[in-house]
Amino acid sequence: MTNLDSIVARFDVDDPAFIADPYPVLNELREATPIFLNPNTGQWTLTRFQDVFETLRDRRLGRSYSHLFTHAEVGKPEPDPRWAAFHQHERWSLLCLEPPDHTRLRRLVSKVFTPRAVTALRPALAGFSEELLDRCADLGEFDLLADYAQPYSVAVICSMLGVPRSDTQLLLDWSHAIVKMYELSTSEAVRVAANQAAADYTDYTKALIAEKRRSPDGLLISELVRVEDEGDTLSEDEIVSTTMVLLEAGHEATVNTLGNGMRAFMHHPQEWRRVVDGDVDTKTAVEEMLRWDSPLQLFERWVLEPGVEIAGQTFEVGQEVAMLFGAAERDPRRFAGADTFDAGRGDPAHIAFGGGIHFCVGAPLARQEIEVSLAGLAKRFPGLRLVEEPSYHPTFVIRGLTALRLATP
Ligand code: HEM
Repeated sequence: MTNLDSIVARFDVDDPAFIADPYPVLNELREATPIFLNPNTGQWTLTRFQDVFETLRDRRLGRSYSHLFTHAEVGKPEPDPRWAAFHQHERWSLLCLEPPDHTRLRRLVSKVFTPRAVTALRPALAGFSEELLDRCADLGEFDLLADYAQPYSVAVICSMLGVPRSDTQLLLDWSHAIVKMYELSTSEAVRVAANQAAADYTDYTKALIAEKRRSPDGLLISELVRVEDEGDTLSEDEIVSTTMVLLEAGHEATVNTLGNGMRAFMHHPQEWRRVVDGDVDTKTAVEEMLRWDSPLQLFERWVLEPGVEIAGQTFEVGQEVAMLFGAAERDPRRFAGADTFDAGRGDPAHIAFGGGIHFCVGAPLARQEIEVSLAGLAKRFPGLRLVEEPSYHPTFVIRGLTALRLATP
């Protein structure tokens, strides 16, 4: 076994020690090689910032190949019919489309997420945040995720989409079950649950769309329905997928950024002090929360053209390239003192939101949601402390804590 093989063997997403702290192994991988073949997934995997940065923007690769090739043409099996509901639910998701369909749908969705529209939401966000922080203050000791971040981020996205808040728990349960399908290693039971959740969620969304058609409210789903009704090219399936991707993408990553980021602050009390004392403004600190312990650790691309070479490796059409965000975000070639959690770093050009045509459409909203929360926490609870050491969910791609128990003095 070569030295590289032994490091790659430790890139084991089923190993609890790796999940607890993947960064030592990710750092070793990145320093040993810019690219390696993951024997478990067959994916060539990039480790360094510059390669990941460029690959995200490289139009010779895509998040999907089905607009150009059949599964057989790229040597892939047909999708498993047992997971039909899951595949159908993401069929028209922005994350599964390439131009021209991607361009058409993205243009419509982007209209709702302009920086101006997002700034206008700030008072609503602050209202949700205050309400939940009041409850946390009453509790004295609370779980930042269950008592704050989850209800907060769902309230925000539901209020944008026009989904009743009373359905929040249903949506949370479906979203949690579905996103597990994106992990590198999933059990049969997890897939069955994800598929069932996608089916239930689709039925729910279709009923909601029918409701919006009857009584429009000017919010996102209603607006998408209006476009369809005006004879544009948005089909019901497209509206369903768009609604669901916004709820899924718009929720988990924001919650996990708050959890992972506040854990980082609790482990670095001097950095928390800098925020509490106003030496580092909250906008700046949010960028380091996103970079240092990113809530999304791996993304994939399909090679769509011949002649693609990345990090010295030549690819054939239909091959898959994976990008290790956590390794790239700690690349010392790009970030000085990359392993240090420095709230005042102020470098927004990380890749936590991706890059290129799939760059996170919700980034302005996510940044504001996290910033409002951080500001509220710092103002209300300057002496916040960790009650117990938190643990991470046993998943790699979506990196987040099971709970973050905090106490006010
Ligand atoms: C901290 C929170 C968030 C993080 C770290 C994050 C991260 C990302 C990343 C990395 C991508 C690109 C994936 C790729 O290139 O393969 C992405 C895309 C996307 N995100 Fe986010 N996201 C966050 C919050 C949100 C929110 C709040 C929303 C919506 C309300 C949202 C909606 C989307 C959508 C729809 C896409 C697909 C865009 C496209 O394919 O054109 N995200 N996000």
